[in-house]
Amino acid sequence: MQKISVWAPSNIALIKYWGKRDEDLILPHTSSLSMTLSGLGTETSVEAADQDQFVLDEVVYDIKTSEASRVFYIVDLIRDQFSLSENLRIETKNNFPTAAGLASSASGFAALVFALNEFFSLRLSFEGMSRIARQGSGSASRSFWGGFVKWERGEKEDGSDSVGRQLFAADHWPELHMILNVLSEKKKPVSSREGMRRSVETSKLYKSEWLPKNEDRVDLAEKAIQEKDFSALGRLVEENALLMHATMEDASPSFSYLAPESRKLIERVQKMRSEGIEGYVTMDAGPQVKVLCLQENIDVFMDMLSSESLIKKTFVSQPGVGPKVMR
Ligand code: PMV
Repeated sequence: MQKISVWAPSNIALIKYWGKRDEDLILPHTSSLSMTLSGLGTETSVEAADQDQFVLDEVVYDIKTSEASRVFYIVDLIRDQFSLSENLRIETKNNFPTAAGLASSASGFAALVFALNEFFSLRLSFEGMSRIARQGSGSASRSFWGGFVKWERGEKEDGSDSVGRQLFAADHWPELHMILNVLSEKKKPVSSREGMRRSVETSKLYKSEWLPKNEDRVDLAEKAIQEKDFSALGRLVEENALLMHATMEDASPSFSYLAPESRKLIERVQKMRSEGIEGYVTMDAGPQVKVLCLQENIDVFMDMLSSESLIKKTFVSQPGVGPKVMR
């Protein structure tokens, strides 16, 4: 079998996934909705080898490390399901900082499953690949399509209906932009798995404000995207991100992924909005702050952001396309 290389995009949730109802199968308590990012993602190659090997960003990982084990857990799911026994060398590279809260696990697991599907000629549908990638990292279930994608919560205990689905293609709303600001490249202090568990098990806010209302928020965000109503979408996006972070502070023991620089930047964007320059923030399980804005305001935001000495790197994305085979 020939070496295969693929690319898969990253995605940022506009309405977040936070909390699992099944930790082994990675089944969420609520649905989520994301924008696929143009230009940011993971390139992964798969080839036959004498023994299993894992290389991430040009570093060879011992097969027993947690990074390699997470990858080979998914490889084994596929090898078992299709009765395959080949040893593999998996080489993967992100074009943005790994594990710093810029959704590298979403594009990483999507690229892995997409590459294995090509390498073994499995002919899985995108939905079928989404179902498998979800078990590596929940957000990966949304990285198989361009544009705007919903990860359906699903109802079944075996998770077969908990998959991604495209709502709108990338060309539906090209004026929408996401500016990703890297404030810190340190590894997160609490894994998202542990963080979710704490919010689910101990936060009152999670029970009263998150669980009963997120399905409606996903529907409202879908409608706002359909109507290209930027103000309605922006308000939902920012409220949802702040609520997710509030469930962490409300948890016991309380925790936060936000750094003092993150809070400064959030306030800066909110102040600009009060002055008529419309942008909204969203943050994931890390200190990075992403700004959602329209094309017409990109230059003003970039000027503001480049004057902020706290920012290490900035990436600008629009709704991007889905995964592709490189060779
Ligand atoms: O895919 P995971 O397990 O890294 O969880 C990611 C969760 C958030 O990024 C915080 C939200 C989301 O929906 O992507």
